[in-house]
Amino acid sequence: MFTTPDLFSIVDHYITDLYVKEDDALVEAVTAARGFGLPPIEVSPAQGKFLYLLAKIARARRILEIGTLGGYSTIWLARALAKGGELVTLEADPAAAAAASEAFARAGLEQTVRLLVGDATQTLPAVISETGDPFDLVFLDADKVNYPSYFDLFMQRVSSGSLIVADNVIRAGTVLAPRPDDPSASAARTFNALVAADDRLESIILQQVGIKGHDGLTIARVR
Ligand SMILES: C[S@@+](CC[C@H](N)C(=O)[O-])C[C@H]1O[C@@H](n2cnc3c(N)ncnc32)[C@H](O)[C@@H]1O
Repeated sequence: MFTTPDLFSIVDHYITDLYVKEDDALVEAVTAARGFGLPPIEVSPAQGKFLYLLAKIARARRILEIGTLGGYSTIWLARALAKGGELVTLEADPAAAAAASEAFARAGLEQTVRLLVGDATQTLPAVISETGDPFDLVFLDADKVNYPSYFDLFMQRVSSGSLIVADNVIRAGTVLAPRPDDPSASAARTFNALVAADDRLESIILQQVGIKGHDGLTIARVR
């Protein structure tokens, strides 16, 4: 008999085997990230495919990602871009940025992905003040404590129909009553309340289980 978390992982593998085809560039992005000493905190293959589908459904031409790690989710998202599209991804850790940069080259995405290295609290304001089209999809997957301030910034550069997607907003249920020593859970709870109260958005949190444990993904659409 399987325990429930085992069952969630087994079903995740079943879904992945059926619906997710990872090519060498995706597989190597994960392998190389471990070689660079990066933690295994990229999205799962099924979550990557889900992000890809969201970007396709949104017909995204411009994507903003905060939190690159080794570039795994970036590759999924960039491959969903409309022809001539651009993805801007922000990463603070130079080792992660180096791994990601090599991963983008292997995936043939050097011309499509713009990787900005530095703390996103510093790099994001400059991206937001650039001229150009708004972002059709924003994927938030970096330090949770700054989700609320990232939200205030990127909401200036989205338009009707844009999607906001934010990972790790349920944190195995710890957002229900964050402990004082868990600032990530407190910030996620604040972020969830901000999104829920924002009349510019139509939003939901998709509760998720699988090989990454129990968490949740915000999906919000700009009215
Ligand atoms: C969960 S990982 C991103 C995983 C990646 N999106 C994927 O699924 O392949 C979070 C990343 O955010 C980065 N990060 C954390 N704080 C940051 C900050 N203030 N500015 C930019 N990047 C940050 C970390 O270095 C880490 O690489």
